[in-house]
Amino acid sequence: MKTQNNISERILKWYKRNQRNLPWRKTKDPYYIFVSEMMLQQTQVETVIPYYHRFITRFPTVETLARASLQEVLKAWENLGYYARARHLHLAAKEMIELTGGVIPDNEEELLRLPGVGPYTAAAILSIAFDRRVPAVDGNVRRVLCRLFAIRTPLEESKTQRRIHNLAADLVPVKASLFNQGIMDLGATICTPRHPVCGRCPVHSSCLAYEKGLQETLPITRKRGPLPHKQMTAGILCTHDKLLIVQRPTKGLLGGLWKFPGGERGSGVSLQKSLEKVIQMELGIEVRVGEKITAVKHAYTHFRITLYAFRCTLRGGAPKALKCHNWRWSDPQDLAEFPFSKADRKIMAFL
Ligand code: ADE
Repeated sequence: MKTQNNISERILKWYKRNQRNLPWRKTKDPYYIFVSEMMLQQTQVETVIPYYHRFITRFPTVETLARASLQEVLKAWENLGYYARARHLHLAAKEMIELTGGVIPDNEEELLRLPGVGPYTAAAILSIAFDRRVPAVDGNVRRVLCRLFAIRTPLEESKTQRRIHNLAADLVPVKASLFNQGIMDLGATICTPRHPVCGRCPVHSSCLAYEKGLQETLPITRKRGPLPHKQMTAGILCTHDKLLIVQRPTKGLLGGLWKFPGGERGSGVSLQKSLEKVIQMELGIEVRVGEKITAVKHAYTHFRITLYAFRCTLRGGAPKALKCHNWRWSDPQDLAEFPFSKADRKIMAFL
């Protein structure tokens, strides 16, 4: 226990001198910390900073967020990715207004009931906003602990995760906010996935991986195969100088975002035929698929896509929201007001 206290103390001391200057560290407002933690799920600090500033300026309170439309929230989130986070944050704000008048819960049970809040986010909010002595174990922290204790079982295994969680719980001191953020910073800046800078680490003398020369080998992760690839199609329909755009159903990967009509290529069908069919099912209209405008590539976490855009002409029918949430004929200059995915924005650059 003595060594562990010592490890915590050294991390706290190191953090006091070396902490990154991050905007959500200048506040104790639980709402701001909630927003930052939702944004930081799966996204790097540098990417989050400008979004965080814009978001809290646009939605400065739980109430302003709850009162906004989903589209406004998605627009503020555009290009940050993992849009379910934005939908969950919006829903969580509405729930908090209903349940408590907009107060962020200060206990794990109620936090975990909010959409988008898992054990890590609940622990981060509890420790950072409410100074509760709980460990917050994210990817960076997992790596640091795996190395400190030379854990050689695969990181993905639940027994490894439990072991890491227990070690973190033993280490976390009363100053949990500072410790949790300190160990996160240590992972992000010193104990990096590749080429950790052990000479500058405050706890390298207690690090079992460093002692055994395993710092580049640990943690052990399962090898991932190449990402599966999908071919997607988008139809560019232009009538009276207006473009047809559709809003995706609100659930799913890019739920609630806008796009051009189209979807995944069916197997054994040409891109053009597939697009014709998808638009028919999506909007109940007949189109003729013309020349290919461009093809753009994009990678998501679990798959890659190539999105082929074709010029289309309307042959019959009027659009109906059959397999989409909404649709609209939009002036090209108004497209900036709608939230779109990166791949769709790449296509717009060609139009
Ligand atoms: N990642 C998640 N939460 C963080 C925080 N508060 N500081 C730095 N990185 C983080």
